[in-house]
Amino acid sequence: MASYDVIIIGSGPGGYVCAIRCAQLGLKTACVEGRETLGGTCLNIGCIPSKALLHASHMLHEAEHNFASMGLKGKAPSVDWKQMLAYKEDTIGQNTKGIEFLFKKNKIDWLKGWGSIPQTGKVKVGDQVHEAKNIIIASGSEPTSLPGVEVDEKVVVTSTGALELGKIPKKMVVIGAGVIGLELGSVYKRLGSEVTVIEYLDAITPGMDAEVQKTFQRILKKQGIDFIMGAAVQKTEATKTKAKVHYKLRKDDSDHVLDADVVLLATGRKPYTDGLGLDSIGIKMSDRGQIEVDAHWQTNVKGIYAIGDCITGPMLAHKAEDEGMAAAEQVAGKHGHVNYGVIPGVIYTHPEVANVGETEESLKDQGRKYKAGKFSFMGNGRAKANFAADGFVKILADAETDRILGAHIIGPAAGDLVHEICVAMEFGASAEDLAMTCHAHPTYSEAVREAALACGDGPIHS
Ligand code: NAI
Repeated sequence: MASYDVIIIGSGPGGYVCAIRCAQLGLKTACVEGRETLGGTCLNIGCIPSKALLHASHMLHEAEHNFASMGLKGKAPSVDWKQMLAYKEDTIGQNTKGIEFLFKKNKIDWLKGWGSIPQTGKVKVGDQVHEAKNIIIASGSEPTSLPGVEVDEKVVVTSTGALELGKIPKKMVVIGAGVIGLELGSVYKRLGSEVTVIEYLDAITPGMDAEVQKTFQRILKKQGIDFIMGAAVQKTEATKTKAKVHYKLRKDDSDHVLDADVVLLATGRKPYTDGLGLDSIGIKMSDRGQIEVDAHWQTNVKGIYAIGDCITGPMLAHKAEDEGMAAAEQVAGKHGHVNYGVIPGVIYTHPEVANVGETEESLKDQGRKYKAGKFSFMGNGRAKANFAADGFVKILADAETDRILGAHIIGPAAGDLVHEICVAMEFGASAEDLAMTCHAHPTYSEAVREAALACGDGPIHS
């Protein structure tokens, strides 16, 4: 048995970042992880492997569609699926080993096994019970299930199985037009699968700016992804190699069936707190299964904190990381803080989609007066040269003060461009502040400046 200032349960982006910050602040720290490797869902079966497959499949798409017009002649490459999966595994390995190295460097003990909290101040891992002045739960999330849809991770898969399919399916049906469905649907579309997305609502990516939703869906359709909107999946019937997906159209209650080689279930994620023993120590949970915390990430039990996907808020790695750093500072007696109004969201399709802050819809709901400055990538020289002129930047600013309230980008490098606006929002900047900042030419970021100019006297290039 060892004794620690803090034990963190879970080594995903929330947990490992929290552990590193705790150690840097001089706390004796351990992190419990039951997987063979550190990094949680994000590094092992989520963000990182999906980005490897998105990158490889995008390269293929470029070779097939844009090389010839740039004067790069020759046959487009064929796909060696085994090698692509090996590249993905190698990417995972480099990242998870990187965290292991950081743990050693910061003298963080990795307690290998699945942890539980038998009582306040104690964490049990295997048959060992360790003492901890503070416990931080960062146990993450898992895919939600759908009644009638039995996942075998071979024919009917979640994102986990979709990242290691035996072969590229001829026909893939995706249930849910959210972030996971569209990212992984894009991967397989580019690799040659016929992809049909079935979505319950009438718009894709719920909660996103409506104009972005429409443009995004139009672009994905142009890329060959089919959509069945307003349809509720009822059940799947699977054999060892094929499946049938039964769905009902909401508009007329009619029943339909689609055949697929692989069905991807991507209808959301839910907090993962199984086996922690939270019930027995009286930790308060919401009716959605989230651990309830106060403004300092402390649960109703003193000395036990929770961060990341297992508490409220968007299920995003970077939100968990920020909470991890802030909770570490709280535990160390400092003042950790997270600005929940400035958390970017990114979808890593091509083009990328990124957003931060308010949408036009949320501002209208609040009855707030705002200006929307929009600029199309068609007016951006760099985007045109790179076959990436589809999409736009939209900045929303307060009608009276000009303070930036939100931004929505669909286009090249949107996931990077959005951060200039995040920094501006952190500093309480106005759209004019952005517009008056010199932006290098020719860069995609000029589109951000032009959108800021569109909130004032107007953009130059449209
Ligand atoms: P999601 O919540 O983004 O989307 C799920 C979609 O499924 C919704 O559009 C919903 O209307 C639809 N749906 C639900 N039941 C249905 C039914 N019976 N039939 C048809 N459609 C149905 O969930 P997703 O994509 O699974 O992602 C889970 C979480 O992981 C999200 O919180 C997301 O933010 C996070 N994530 C973030 C990524 C990123 O930031 N790039 C990448 C991957 C995941």
